[in-house]
Amino acid sequence: MTPRTRPRRRRSALLAGFAAALTGLATAVVLPASSASAATGLAALAAAKGRFFGTATDQPELSDTQYTSILTGGEFNQLTPGNRLKWQFTEPVQGQFDFAEADREVNLGLAHRMKVRGHTLVWHSQLAGWVTALPSDQVQAAMEHHITTEVSHFKGRVFAWDVVNEPFNEDGTFRADVFSNAMGSGYIADALRTAHAADPRAKLYLNDYNIEGTGPKSDAMYNLAKSLLAQGVPLNGIGFQGHLAVQYGFPATMAANLQRFADLGLDVGITELDVRMPLPETAEKDATQDLYYHNVVSACMAVRRCVGVTVWDFTDKYSWIPAFFPGQGAPLPWDENLVKKPHVYDTIADALCARPTTT
Ligand code: XIL
Repeated sequence: MTPRTRPRRRRSALLAGFAAALTGLATAVVLPASSASAATGLAALAAAKGRFFGTATDQPELSDTQYTSILTGGEFNQLTPGNRLKWQFTEPVQGQFDFAEADREVNLGLAHRMKVRGHTLVWHSQLAGWVTALPSDQVQAAMEHHITTEVSHFKGRVFAWDVVNEPFNEDGTFRADVFSNAMGSGYIADALRTAHAADPRAKLYLNDYNIEGTGPKSDAMYNLAKSLLAQGVPLNGIGFQGHLAVQYGFPATMAANLQRFADLGLDVGITELDVRMPLPETAEKDATQDLYYHNVVSACMAVRRCVGVTVWDFTDKYSWIPAFFPGQGAPLPWDENLVKKPHVYDTIADALCARPTTT
């Protein structure tokens, strides 16, 4: 035995011991999802994997103290104001900005060490009426002024912006709205450049729904992202809203789809997750819902550049679903009484703990 081989053997014995210890550790972490969830919040589980687990919030829920104690109690390390950063609230009258409520929500998140996502700057919906009434030759200046003012106001506090929300139709064509009608699809590059100039350190996202799996809409987003990057437009990430429903099946290609965007050099994130069901709730629908939550979180965890998962509020008490999808509901991990649903919560915890698989 030469002096060179001895240390090597020792090292391999050491490594074997270390690997065995790691395996034991991994088993301890992965198996008891419920005890993991009892010991620590979802935020801590996500943070241990370098991700965040976040939620949207809004009024009236912020006046509900039982709600806010959960919101700020360690389950979430990322917050998205669900409405108050939208144009109808921030610039209801041209040139008159009101950030009071948005400031309150953003500061609440920061005070509890949550990263704050800015949702959203340019969107066809929840737009102030005056924007749609503008002559088309004034739309670009109004959009740029809106973006510059809002992004500058939150500079250093909002880590990522949904600069453009929902730019596509289901077939992958650009949605016709006041912005695309006035500027063509170039409004997207213009919006991103304007936001970047206002806060060069903010991560700039495009965000949409029904792009979780591959298909015409997701392909359109992919082609747009690729072309923007090729032109040097400041785009940092793609947000996949994740408004799923048990009756429509799970987008099975989700992990691979996230990965193809990540392969372009972009961050990806699940930005508005909820899994609704036709009411009444049944054990069978609950089981499908659990599976979907598990699949979404696992898809994110499988992609290194998936920065985190955000639920679109955390309790059925304040979900947008019943109002927008009549007859459907029960979409979130906490129920109407602010009680944690163990079947959903534990499946999320389990997926956050699991060792990543490669896609
Ligand atoms: C929803 C809010 O949760 C509701 O309170 C509001 O009335 C309508 O908008 N996609 C989005 C979000 O990007 O902004 C939407 O939020 C849900 C769908």
